[in-house]
Amino acid sequence: MLRDQLDRVCDEADTLIVAGDLTNFGKPEEMEPLLNIFVRLRLPIIVVLGNHDYECGHQAELAETMSAAGIKVLDGSTHQCEDVGFAGTKGFVGGFGRGMLTAFGEDEVKTFVRAGIDEAVKLERAMSQLRTAKRVVVLHYSPIAATVQGENPEIYPFLGTSRLAEVVDRHGADLVLHGHAHHGKPDGKTPAGIAVHNVAITLLQAQDPPAVYRIFDV
Ligand SMILES: [Fe+2]
Repeated sequence: MLRDQLDRVCDEADTLIVAGDLTNFGKPEEMEPLLNIFVRLRLPIIVVLGNHDYECGHQAELAETMSAAGIKVLDGSTHQCEDVGFAGTKGFVGGFGRGMLTAFGEDEVKTFVRAGIDEAVKLERAMSQLRTAKRVVVLHYSPIAATVQGENPEIYPFLGTSRLAEVVDRHGADLVLHGHAHHGKPDGKTPAGIAVHNVAITLLQAQDPPAVYRIFDV
C-alpha cells in the first residue's frame, strides 16, 4: 500500500520530490488521500504539477491546497532545503533535438510552441535564482529523448522537449528528475552530461523489488 511504502521514506531521505501527475483527472477530491499521506510524513516535500493535474482546470486549487499543507509547489520557482537548491516547473511538449517543433507557419503552431518556450523561460528564471552549490531540477516533462525511449517513437514529441535541457545545460545542475514517460528509461544524460532520471511510478514499480520512490544522493 502506498501509505506503508511511503512511510519508510522518512528514514531514508531528507526530502521527497514528486515529479507531477499527483492526480488522474486534476480533481481536488482526488488529491485528498495523497495529501493525507504526505502530511503524515513530516519531511520536506517538493512537487511540480503534471498534465493530468490540469485536466479539469483546477490546477491552481490543487497547488493552493498543497501549499496550505506545507508542500512546496514549484512552478518556475525555487526552494532550498539545507544546502541543496531546487528549481522546478512542469515543462511542456515539443520534441527533441532536430525533431523539435519550431514556431513557424500557422498561429496555432506558434501558440503551441510558445507554451513550450514559456516553460523553458520559467525554468531559466528559476535556475538563475539558485545560489546553492548543489542544484536539483524538477520537471514533469522530459528534457531529453533518452529517458522516453521505450515509449512509442510516434509520441516522443509529446513527452517533453530539448528546450528544457538547453536551459539545464546553460545553468548547470547536479540532477534532473522528471516523470510523464511511463514506459521510458530510468536514466539518461543531457548533452552536457548532467544526470537525468525518469521517476514515473510505472518505472519505479517495474524495479526489482517494486518501489514507489527512488533515493538519490547529491
Ligand atoms: Fe503526465
